[in-house]
This record gives sequence, structure tokens and C-alpha cells, in this order.
Amino acid sequence: MPKGVVRKALEGFQPYVPGEQPPDGEGWIKLNTNESPLPPSPKVIAAIKEAATDALRLYPSPTAAPAREAIARKFQLDPTRVTVGNGGDELIELCFRAFAGAGDTVAFPTPTYPLFEPLCRLHEAAPSRHPTEAFAELPPSLGPDPSPLKFIVNPNSPTGALFEARDVEAAVAASSGVVAIDEAYVDFAPRSAVDLLNTHDNVLLLRTFSKSYGLAGMRIGFALGSPDLIEALDAVKDSYNVDRLAIVAAAVAIGDDQHHRKVVDEVVKNRTELADALERRGFEVVPSAANFVFVRPPKPAAEVVAALRERKVLVRHYDREPIAGWIRVTVGTREQHEKLLGALKEIL
Ligand SMILES: Cc1ncc(COP(=O)(O)O)c(C=O)c1O
Repeated sequence: MPKGVVRKALEGFQPYVPGEQPPDGEGWIKLNTNESPLPPSPKVIAAIKEAATDALRLYPSPTAAPAREAIARKFQLDPTRVTVGNGGDELIELCFRAFAGAGDTVAFPTPTYPLFEPLCRLHEAAPSRHPTEAFAELPPSLGPDPSPLKFIVNPNSPTGALFEARDVEAAVAASSGVVAIDEAYVDFAPRSAVDLLNTHDNVLLLRTFSKSYGLAGMRIGFALGSPDLIEALDAVKDSYNVDRLAIVAAAVAIGDDQHHRKVVDEVVKNRTELADALERRGFEVVPSAANFVFVRPPKPAAEVVAALRERKVLVRHYDREPIAGWIRVTVGTREQHEKLLGALKEIL
């Protein structure tokens, strides 16, 4: 951050650093940002092509109405209970804009999605961290925390661990403020917290098209919640936060159950194979409910990651406690796994 030009509150600000995104077509095995190893539905590609017309000179629907309505139909909810954002990340940021500002605290279990920390700084809120004793255990201190905004990423990232439904419900029931349950990876998990929408008005579910729908490049996510919470998010969002092509993509993708199921089934099958293969090579593996595995290599992680990179394989490395020494590997295709495992054979 350049000194002297940014506002005082941002002195020493450490921005969120996304995973490396090398140019397409250079032959990288990208297992670092949890993208889908399979492409989006062909129906989505066709619809995007069809929408790439002269109409692009016009602004999109400010409410992304066609996407919102299609998502509402899918979840059998009234459209007033759905909003759409420029990726799940934008919806997370909108939660800050709407529910927590300067002087507030924002609570979350740790380790978790590293985006929350810089967003706290940007909004001059203080993080209220609740360390997990075991990766799959939601800290009991989270529920009674009085923060006006809490995040529970479930399945969690980067661990892939799934918190118990009863613990999530207890945390929500004990919370006076808004609890945003970030379900970016939930399609790969055995259960969701979607039923809490019927019983708790302080719950927001955040979802994304970036993972199980193979649409990370389109930047589209959605939130489900009570009409009041959705209205609050809508009130603070940018006017045209989702572009025309993304709206079309979301509306078609959410309706193609068959393709979605195919992607999820393949990833879940490959996840088991990858976890088993890494375990056989001496890695410690956390049971995963997501589209990645969180593993500790038998050699220093930084060395393994650098050696993989030399072989054009990208994975995500964490160097901060309590997860220093761990690596997150996105579930890929069988072919990608073969290349990863071949590289590891040389390295280890
Ligand atoms: C926990 C979590 N939440 C939300 C997102 C947001 O994804 P997107 O902005 O692509 O929808 C990600 C992306 O990696 C994530 O890991």
C-alpha cells in the first residue's frame, strides 16, 4: 500500500492475495483456486453466445431479475428472498456494507476464508476470531459472540471440513445479529443449512456459480435469506453489479440439473481417489466435503509447492499458523491427478 495516499485506517493494509492465475494455454495444471475441472453446461455456453448481441449497449437488469427468478424457482422461494452478486465475494462484501461498519466486530471461526480479515480492515471493523480446536468442530464461543455479523464457511476453506448441522443451528439460534453461512462448496457436501431459512430470519446463505457450475470466469453468486436481509443487501449494492452475460449464464446454469449433477458426481469421485493417493504417499489428509483436499506433505510444504510449480503444477500453500505446513489441492480430472502424482513421485 503506497504511504500517504490512502486513508489512515488503511496504513499497513494487507490485501487479499488471490491464487496465481497464469495466462490460459500455457499448460499449467491449476489445482490452486478450486475452479471446476469440468466445463460449464453446453446450454450455458450457447445462451451466452446468443446473448452477445447489440443489446450489450444497454445496461443489464439492475436486479438481475431473470437470474433471481430462476434461482428462486430452483429453491422454491419467493424472489424477494434471493439476491445475486458479482461472485460470492461481492456478497460477502455487501454483508459488511449492510451489517457491520466502523467500530463493529465481525466474528468467524479460524482458520477460514482469508478474505474476511482484509474486509474487516477496509470497513474499519475488528475481527472477532474463534479458533477451532479440531478442524470440523465449530467453536462453541461463536454463538454467544455479540457481533452484528458472523461468517460460517461450511464446508470450510481451506480445510474442507464440514461443521455439524446442529452446531451451526445452535450458533445461529444464539446470535442476535446476522449469520452469513458461506456455502460456496456445499454442492460437494452431504448436507446444506438451507432448512434454516425456514426457521431463522437472521440467516443468509451465500452460494456461488464458480465451483460446481464451472463458471468462475463469469463472476456470479447468490444469497438466500429473509426479505429484510435481502432488501438490506440490495440497498447497498452497486447499481449494475451483475452483467448481462452473467445473468443469462446463471439463469440457464441453475436450470441444468443434469449437467450440475454430472460435475458434482465426478468431483466427489475424484476427491476420494486423490485423497487416497496422497495418503498412500505419506500425506496427512483432512476428510473433505468440498472440491479440494487439505493435506500436510511428509516434506516441508514450501519446498513441495515450489517443486510442483517448477513442474507446472499449482496448488495453494499456507504459511501462517495454525495451518503453516499445509497445502490445499483442488480436485481435478484424473489426468491432472496423474500429472500431480507423477510430479510428487519425483519430488518426494
Ligand atoms: C469460502 C469461499 N467463499 C466464497 C468464495 C467466492 O467465490 P466467487 O467470488 O468466485 O463466487 C470462495 C472462492 O474461492 C471461497 O473459497
